[in-house]
Amino acid sequence: MTEFLRMSGIYWGTTCLDIMGHLDKLDKRSIIEFIKQCQCQKSGGISACDGHDPHLLYTLSAIQILCTYDSLNEIDVKAVGKYVAALQQPDGSFFGDKWGEVDTRFSFCAVAILALTQQMDLIDVDKAVEFVLSCANPDGGFGSKPHAESHAGLIYCCVGFLSITHNLHRLEVEKLAWWLCERQLKAGGLNGRPEKLPDVCYSWWVLSSLTILGRAHWISAEKLNEFIISCQDTDTGGFSDRPGNMPDIFHTLFGVGALSLLGHPNLKRINPTFCMPTEIVDKIFQVQILDS
Ligand code: FPP
Ligand code: ZN
Repeated sequence: MTEFLRMSGIYWGTTCLDIMGHLDKLDKRSIIEFIKQCQCQKSGGISACDGHDPHLLYTLSAIQILCTYDSLNEIDVKAVGKYVAALQQPDGSFFGDKWGEVDTRFSFCAVAILALTQQMDLIDVDKAVEFVLSCANPDGGFGSKPHAESHAGLIYCCVGFLSITHNLHRLEVEKLAWWLCERQLKAGGLNGRPEKLPDVCYSWWVLSSLTILGRAHWISAEKLNEFIISCQDTDTGGFSDRPGNMPDIFHTLFGVGALSLLGHPNLKRINPTFCMPTEIVDKIFQVQILDS
């Protein structure tokens, strides 16, 4: 049931444990062997699980895990770069894989992979930037493609993309930050779009975007902290999307990641663009973050 997203599952787990200072609880060697099996010999891309098709989503997760273990040399990194570059389209957008879906998530994955592997020169960055900017909406937000509805997850992808390519000055910062801080509801939690219920993962998508924009103080940290803590399952320790629901590893990473952005004392600091410990990212790549 989980094979189709297993590589991302491993990224969510390793990153969450690393932020909490417990990365040693997982077996590094078996994780690296799993990733090696998932690299496609023909395309260079990486799949979610052996036997599945490669995709930019799982290629990014694999690269993030390998950076965490300081083990990029275990796979063919040049082949990964070629895979990413071959997915760029004439308008600057990216297909997620050979089947041709276009989405701003894939623009983020592409530049994040190339930044972490130091191969940004393989793509046309200017065209990639123009495509992402063409997805901006009159409300200041971004969607998955031009004219698509603003959505906090995709805003994270576009803001993250612009922080990697150092183009944050091209944004309407105040308008976008205002849309993002309106995601906080009375109970303290954040939603992903107007009229939606709060969800712990949007604590990450929204707060990381506001942090990159230097506007994290525009929401109530205290109320958000309370909402995230209320989503922790007291039996298992994991976090669910909303209080009382089933916990899962996805919401656990993004809950813990948001707590780290809020400055929780027992957690390592997290990079708001890459959702990885700052101590790892800072050695590899400098993202752009706006002053508060
Ligand atoms: C919500 O999706 C989240 C997004 C659309 C953002 C996804 C971001 C990536 C894939 C980039 C890689 C991420 C990291 C952290 C490195 P959803 O389908 O749950 O939306 P819904 O709440 O509207 O259903
Ligand atoms: Zn969620």
